[in-house]
Amino acid sequence: MKLIDGKVISAHIKQQVKAQVDELKAKGTEPCLAVIIVGDDFASRTYVNNKKRTCEEVGIKSLEFALPAETTQEELLELVEKLNADDNVNGILCQLPIPKHIDEKVILNAIKPEKDVDAFHPVNAGHIMIGDCVLKPCTPAGIMEMLKYEGIDVAGKNCVVIGRSNIVGKPMAMLLLAASGTVTVCHSRTQNLTEITRSADILVAAVGKAKFVTADMVKEGAVVIDVGMNRDEDGKRCGDVDFEAVKDKASHITPVPGGVGLMTVAMLMQNTVTAAESQNNRG
Ligand code: GUN
Repeated sequence: MKLIDGKVISAHIKQQVKAQVDELKAKGTEPCLAVIIVGDDFASRTYVNNKKRTCEEVGIKSLEFALPAETTQEELLELVEKLNADDNVNGILCQLPIPKHIDEKVILNAIKPEKDVDAFHPVNAGHIMIGDCVLKPCTPAGIMEMLKYEGIDVAGKNCVVIGRSNIVGKPMAMLLLAASGTVTVCHSRTQNLTEITRSADILVAAVGKAKFVTADMVKEGAVVIDVGMNRDEDGKRCGDVDFEAVKDKASHITPVPGGVGLMTVAMLMQNTVTAAESQNNRG
């Protein structure tokens, strides 16, 4: 078994991004990411801090807009519009979840597609479907980088994605398909799940349930990618894959923590620079 090390691969991506940032700065542009957080969700606060720290690491300017939980939809929309119109802001990200009285879809759809560094806007989702995207959703894009770094060719492989979310499962399926994989998407209503996952050469678990993928669900020699971020019965961080049981069966596997999560943030940096570059070129 080979461990796919998110720390090493994300460092490689961040190094590339830093070089791009330096080049942009030499031309007089400082890439800038605006991060919006509404309310005081503890996990969101951790993620946002992590994103800001990584911005600093690669030389991207970050602006934080921390709004109280009582913020109205109109107030949040007003902020998004202000950031859309600000030429100094290249990327806009609204950390999810947002409070229930605000319609998430309305907010995500209001972010200018060229500043949508999460690539959640329907226009960007459409580009992913067609296969000509500029901004790719960070987690699936990070997974593709991991496969590339490890020299794992997707073409012709049986790829099974467990999970059909708009953030991970669906765009992951599209990127694997664009790389000529034969893709199956499984979800909570899937019948004979084990039978399907056992056919996977590349298995991506994005379920949100601790240790959901057990050894009997994995083919000998499969590549196993774990998107999960859960707590186990002892409160320890763990993924969607039962790592200890699966690691001896897999040819490659990502750990949690230290795997896909690190890639998500690195790809957010990449998207911010890509956005800055394309906005700059358009002048
Ligand atoms: N909440 C959980 N994952 C994400 C993400 O990738 N982007 C944003 N904006 N919020 C999230």
